[in-house]
Amino acid sequence: MKIAIVGTGYVGLVTGTCFAEAGHHVICVDSDSRKVNMLQAGGMPIYEPGLEELVKKNVSAGRLAFTPSTQEGVEKSQIIFIAVPTPPLPDGGVDLSFMEGVAREIAATMTSYKIVVDKSTVPVRTGEKVAETIKRYNKAKVEFDVVSNPEFLREGFAVEDFMHPDRVVVGLASRRAEAAMREVYAPFKAPIIVTDINSAELIKHAANSFLALKISYINAISLICEASGANVQEVANGIGMDTRIGRQFLDASLGFGGSCFPKDLSAFIKIAEQLGYDFALLKEVQRINTLQLDRFMKKISDTLWVVKDKRIGVLGLAFKQNTDDVRMSPAIELCQRLIKEGAKLRVHDPKAAEKAKAILGDAVTYVPRMDDVALDCDALVVATEWPEFKKLDLEKARKSMTHPILFDGRNMFDPAEMERLGFIYKSIGR
Ligand code: UGA
Repeated sequence: MKIAIVGTGYVGLVTGTCFAEAGHHVICVDSDSRKVNMLQAGGMPIYEPGLEELVKKNVSAGRLAFTPSTQEGVEKSQIIFIAVPTPPLPDGGVDLSFMEGVAREIAATMTSYKIVVDKSTVPVRTGEKVAETIKRYNKAKVEFDVVSNPEFLREGFAVEDFMHPDRVVVGLASRRAEAAMREVYAPFKAPIIVTDINSAELIKHAANSFLALKISYINAISLICEASGANVQEVANGIGMDTRIGRQFLDASLGFGGSCFPKDLSAFIKIAEQLGYDFALLKEVQRINTLQLDRFMKKISDTLWVVKDKRIGVLGLAFKQNTDDVRMSPAIELCQRLIKEGAKLRVHDPKAAEKAKAILGDAVTYVPRMDDVALDCDALVVATEWPEFKKLDLEKARKSMTHPILFDGRNMFDPAEMERLGFIYKSIGR
């Protein structure tokens, strides 16, 4: 099929590339012409495992192209996916101005039947607004369908998640749109769940909020574990074996971050409020998440006593493994708090150092090699669960440190082994 994707961020670029890989003809539109130039020249604006190879492969196969012109995208395709940012407003609500702007541009250039698909995470009933907007601004008065097709991919595993989805959700209101969406997703051989548009929109916020709730639940349990001498990983394994609960998303941590959970949770609380429901349960999920970072900071200051002028090595800046994304990263917030307390930080991240520089600037020392971070440090902190940190030469790190104290915000190491190696080791919930 001929597909346009408007917005080439983490979701849009992965979606377009994977559709091309599945055999469709895709044109990716972005209003940022620098980004378009970069992609046309073979560059990548983001890091996502496996993505660069797929972009190159599909561009040279002639199935994937980039343009700054929405008009060109609309003219060349039957289906237009909108994958633009829906950032948070100061009151926790969602800024839908990019969405509205794209809907108007599509309307202005549409001269034949099109299917307009929303992939961005949006409040329930946005589809209705998109349809109204297109109707209002389309002078040609052509027929169209609006579809909600929320994205469930995780950054860092986006290509894999897109190519092998657990399910595909499509919310729509016409047979014609359903047939087209089934054709688009046929190559992925995944179960397709067809709902009304409002339900599809709600599924996304309900799913992300439930996952955030799982993390906050295990983080709350981690507090009980610390207070009682139990081990949160044992507890997670034990409850996770119950298939009604499941082991995934039960890893205690510094708290969840990223561009989705914190924002979607606030948005969902706001949406519920506007619909007349006080979603207090989700407010507690947020509260536990904030508490988790506070507790970790306290662990550091209780152990070091005075944080000011302490040299601290920080492993990890991204909000999680396998990504260069630092938006709402607990690791970055931790760094900011430590800097505020007067600590001197040596930081390392396999992919996110460049993006972190835009936030932390010259306030920290960026260390290119993981094994050099600990040099002359009073303490080491693991803030992101990059798998390579497991390969850190701990013996060497301990010897190079002024004091062998390790704060593990991701439970990456074994407490007994760390003790054997001579570390004062503090992790989460054990
Ligand atoms: C999340 C959802 O998992 C995706 O399904 C969804 O499509 C996406 O949001 C979105 O709305 O676009 P993502 O934010 O990329 O994906 O990352 P996750 O893997 O969900 O991790 C979110 C945060 O939770 C990270 O900071 C991670 O470290 C933390 N986390 C995750 C934990 O602290 N413990 C866990 O057990 C799992």
